[in-house]
Formats: sequence, C-alpha cells, structure tokens
Amino acid sequence: MLLDTFGRTATDLRVSLTDRCNLRCTYCMPEEGLAWLAKPELLTDEEVVRLVRVAVTRLGVTEVRFTGGEPLLRPGLVGIVERCAALAPRPRLSLTTNGIGLERTAAALRSAGLDRVNVSLDTTDPETFHRITRRRRHADVLRGLAAAKAAGLDPVKVNAVLLPGLNDTEAPALLAWAVERGYELRFIEQMPLDPQHGWQREGMITAGDILASLRTRFSLTPEEDGERGSAPAERWVVDGGPHRVGVIASVTRPFCRACDRTRLTADGQVRTCLFAREESDLRGALRAGADDEELAARWRAATLGKKAGSGLDDPGFVQPRRPMSAIGG
Ligand code: GTP
Ligand code: 5AD
Ligand code: SF4
Repeated sequence: MLLDTFGRTATDLRVSLTDRCNLRCTYCMPEEGLAWLAKPELLTDEEVVRLVRVAVTRLGVTEVRFTGGEPLLRPGLVGIVERCAALAPRPRLSLTTNGIGLERTAAALRSAGLDRVNVSLDTTDPETFHRITRRRRHADVLRGLAAAKAAGLDPVKVNAVLLPGLNDTEAPALLAWAVERGYELRFIEQMPLDPQHGWQREGMITAGDILASLRTRFSLTPEEDGERGSAPAERWVVDGGPHRVGVIASVTRPFCRACDRTRLTADGQVRTCLFAREESDLRGALRAGADDEELAARWRAATLGKKAGSGLDDPGFVQPRRPMSAIGG
C-alpha cells in the first residue's frame, strides 16, 4: 500500500509518457515549446510497464492513467496499454489527451484494453481554439472525440479550462454541445503550473463563476449520491438528468484531504502531488539493478513524504519547478 502520514492511500497512478505536445496552450506552454527531455532520460516502454507492474502487484494501485505532455505522441502507447491490461490484478486504464490523433488510434487503444478517455477541449469555436492552443487543430480534436465514443471508450470526458477574456463566456455553449454528444464535461479551475508564471488568483475563473454562468441556461442540482470521494470533480445533474457536469475546483475547493494519487513522470520520478517540491528517482534505482521489492520500498518511502495539501493557500507558496506538462497533467 502507498500510505501517507495523513492516513490517505494512493490507489490512482498517473503516468506521464512524454513531456512533449503538439499544441501550445497559452496556459501551459510558450510558443517555442520547452526544453524537452532527451530520449535516454525517458523511461523505455519496458521500464514503464515494469513500474506499473510494481505499483499494481505490490502497492495496491487499481487505476492507471496515462498522461503527458501529449501521450498519443508516444509511439509505444498501444503496446504499453496492452501490457498493462495483462497485469493481474488488472488495473482500470485511462488516458488524458488533447485528442489529436485519437481518430486513428481510438479503436486500437480500446482493443488493447483502454477503458476510458478524457479529452481536453476548451472551446467549441475553431478561432478561439486557435487563440488558446496556437494551432489550427480543432477539427482533429472533434474527430478524435467522435472516434473515442464510436470505439466504445466509456465514459468519454471533456476537460475545459476557462480563461478570462478568451473563452470565459463559453461555459453554457460547451455544456449544450457536450450534452448533445453524450460527453461528460468538466470545467477545471486554472492552477499555477504554467512555466510563464502567468497565473493570477485575482483574474482566474472560479467554480462559483462557472456555476453561475451555467445556471443562466441550465438547472443544476448536486448529484444525489453526491459523495465526492477522492474524485477531483464535483458533479451536478443537468436539467433533471441523465447528463452530468463536473467542476474541478483545485484552487477554491481543493480535494487534497481525499487525494488518492501518486504520479510517475516521463523520466521516472515519483511525485506525490502535482505541487510536490521533491521527487524520488525510481529510474536511477531501476537502471542500477534494483529488484521489484526495492522499487516498491522506495515508492512507499516517497509516499510518506506526501504533504497535507497543495500549499496553494500558504503565504509563501512557490510554484513547483517543473510545469504541468513535465509533471504529467
Ligand atoms: P477522472 O478519474 O476521470 O475523474 O480523472 P481526473 O479528473 O483525475 O483526470 P484528468 O487527467 O482528466 O485531470 C483533470 C484535471 O484534474 C487536471 O487538469 C487537474 O486540473 C486535475 N487534477 C488531476 N490530478 C490532480 C491532482 O493530483 N491534484 C490536483 N490539484 N488536481 C489534479
Ligand atoms: N490548470 C488547470 N488545468 C490545466 N491543464 C493544463 N494546465 C493546467 C493548469 N495550469 C489541464 C489541461 C488538461 C488537463 C490534463 O490539465 O487542459 O485537460
Ligand atoms: Fe499540450 Fe495539454 Fe499543455 Fe495544452 S494543456 S499544451 S494539450 S500538454
């Protein structure tokens, strides 16, 4: 088990497969990209599967999510999914992606054992998409979403970050669009994880803003079995059901007390939190010949260092050294 000193158990592993991305969302990356990890620094497919195996067979991890950067850029993704699906006990497998290329790979991912997918899309408007992501790929994302649904990935969730002056009036339109297509939409409060350090609490769109905006067009009731559990999203029933909408209010209503996450970066470092200040080097241990039990012991030890929360509200809060795309979204 990955037990921390606050009594939480991490059963949900998020694995970043690359820090690279084919979009340049303004809240995530500068136009020129970032200093990418070099190939030898990345875990190989073999090493990823080995560490997932350690997590699943020795540490009680039951959910594995692949993220990035953009995980569809990882050539071995389908094979990694397939090998993780063959583990016993079989973990539930999911992917968080920007959707570009999903049109081509959704069916193969499903056959390999992927259960579900979360696709990031902040707008229904191609021009606004270009302004936010600096790329003209809106149609690719829409096709990727449709392919995910057609392939039987279920649920298909859509993640939207609202940004002041860019898409902050779009919440109702996005919800109408998602309801019509059967995607589960979640709005995410922007967090201070951008390399440009452009985040400002004063300007950010809060969960309160989002709900007020949605209620101009929809009736929202808190989900009946409103047990938030460890899920970051709080959910509301839309117009009496069956559709739901979620809000991930990491800033104004953090879920740290119920956090069940552990993370592995693309270069093989364990992070206990998005906002952690320390990492624990599993890649080094693995390449030095550590056996599975030693890797598990290091992971357990790292988990004991997990802090109570993100520290976002502390007066001396400092952003983590690595941006979100390098940590794993
Ligand atoms: P589900 O299991 O489908 O609910 O996934 P998820 O919402 O955990 O995963 P996803 O990759 O779609 O992440 C959506 C957003 O949740 C991310 O952009 C983050 O804003 C937030 N999130 C994910 N993990 C963490 C975490 O450990 N801490 C905080 N504060 N936010 C997180
Ligand atoms: N704050 C909140 N969400 C973010 N994402 C990327 N950067 C941030 C941030 N600073 C979102 C992406 C994607 C998910 C993995 O994280 O839009 O949906
Ligand atoms: Fe790429 Fe996701 Fe960052 Fe956008 S938020 S640039 S899709 S990693």
